[in-house]
Order: sequence, then C-alpha cells, then structure tokens
Amino acid sequence: MRYFGHATVLIEAEGTTILTDPFISVSPEVADRNRLTFRDLPARIDYVLITHGHHDHFVFESLLRLRHRIGTLVVPRNTGIYYGDLSLKQLAQRLGFKQVVEMDALDSISLAGGRMTAIPFLGEHCDLLHAKLGYVVRFGDEQILFAADSCCLDKYLYANIRKTLGPITTAFIGMECIGAPLSWIYSPLLPVKSEREHDQSRRSHANGADSALELLQTVGANTAYVYALGREPWLKYFMALEPTDDDPYMVEIRKFVVAAQTHGIDAQMLYGKQDLFCGDKAHLRYVKGTGGGL
Ligand SMILES: [Fe+2]
Ligand SMILES: [Fe+2]
Repeated sequence: MRYFGHATVLIEAEGTTILTDPFISVSPEVADRNRLTFRDLPARIDYVLITHGHHDHFVFESLLRLRHRIGTLVVPRNTGIYYGDLSLKQLAQRLGFKQVVEMDALDSISLAGGRMTAIPFLGEHCDLLHAKLGYVVRFGDEQILFAADSCCLDKYLYANIRKTLGPITTAFIGMECIGAPLSWIYSPLLPVKSEREHDQSRRSHANGADSALELLQTVGANTAYVYALGREPWLKYFMALEPTDDDPYMVEIRKFVVAAQTHGIDAQMLYGKQDLFCGDKAHLRYVKGTGGGL
C-alpha cells in the first residue's frame, strides 16, 4: 500500500490496483520529495473506492485527471430523500465516467485472490446523508478497513462486521474529532437557518481517542493508521485549516496512539507520503513518510 496523503491509499495486490478517495497533489513548481503526485500512480487503476461525497473525498479535480486510467468507480448509494444526499453515481456519470458501480452496506465485489465489501459508515454527516460507506478490502488473510471520517457511534455495528467478515487486521481510521459545524457545508441546502445549538451538536466529526480504540478492539485490528486529517499542505485551500501540533484533535491522536500501543495495537498517524506493507510482507514494513510515527 502507498499513502498519498489525506484519505488516499493505493493498494496493489494479486495484480489488482485499488485507490481510495483520490485527492492527488499536482507536481509543485519547486520539486518536493515529501509528496507523491499524479506521476506516482500506475497507468491503470482497476477500482477507485469513494467513501462519501464530501469535497475532500469526492474530488472532481483529481477524478477528472484520472478518469482515463480508472476501470470502475465505486460509490455509495444515496436515498434521494434527505437534504444534500446527492447521487454520486449521477455526478460521476456527468463527469464522463462510463463504469460506475453503486454499493450498499454489505455488497461486495470479488477480486482475484480477494474481495471488497462495503460496510456502514456511521456519523460525520450531521444526520443528513446516506451516500456514505466504509470498505473492507481482503487479500488472503489480510483484511483492511478504510473507515474514512466515520465515527464509532455504536461498537455493536463493528462487532457484527467482525462476525460477518472475520477480524480486520489493519484499519485506516479518521480522527478529526472536532469537525465542522452543520452550517459549514450544509447551510445552503437547509430550508431554514440552523440554530447555533444544532450547528454545534451536529458537527461533522470522526473518532476521538476512546471511540477509535473501541473500534479497533471491536474489529480485532493489530495495526492502525490514522488518516484523513487534511493536514497536508496541498489540501490547504480545500480544508481551510492551518494545522498546528496543538490542535485539539492532535492531542486526541497522541492519546490514542499511546493507548493503542498499550493494548498491543501498532498505531501511527500518517502524513504526507508513506509506503506500507502488510500480510506476508509485514516484516518489510518501513517508513518513508514525512511526519508519521507519532
Ligand atoms: Fe467527510
Ligand atoms: Fe474528510
């Protein structure tokens, strides 16, 4: 696996290439060895998995540049009922994607030597959207969870996933535990101006330290990567963030990493770029990142 920043992970296994939530940096004017760009992607990407329609996960700029390289674009199915619950399939088709597959929770796609299964994505959307999914990618005995910005609102969901799919070995989880207020993205879609109380109580947040640990222990993961934090410099104008090490979610991440390691889970925060090995090649795992290893 190769981490490209934010929620973008390239998986290459058994001759299949999968890319999650592509948000790819363009080549900077001044060469930057701390980032991967479009040039570092393979010529052919068999599957792109989209977790949800937020602007940092369904990124038009990256998708359009990759369209000719992508075999199948996998998106979560919407309901068409709730405010802002847009059809990502229709959006993708209007962007020129010919092969778009909508998935519901527990739908799966067979791969040579493996399988991809969609799982429910809890939280993070102010209770408005349904077009959101996590994915479990299995190759051999290795099961890798991509949870994006979901939150462990109820551990029994993950207990049932484990019962259905077997233990997850590696989990990519989001820990932006503060999140944007309801009105930040959804205000133009609401029929009335949201009250401050609702604005704050329905923030779009992911896991804090406790819920992240609960999720990992419930699915049985022995390796955890905290990702999708929006801290890479090329995301600056998308995320409206000025990251510092004192950000409240960074405090939670540090707390989580220590707690996870106490429970025998190898946990770290990803940043910039990194190559990751798992399964039979786990002993080859090495760090090439620009700031991981928290
Ligand atoms: Fe999100
Ligand atoms: Fe996000």
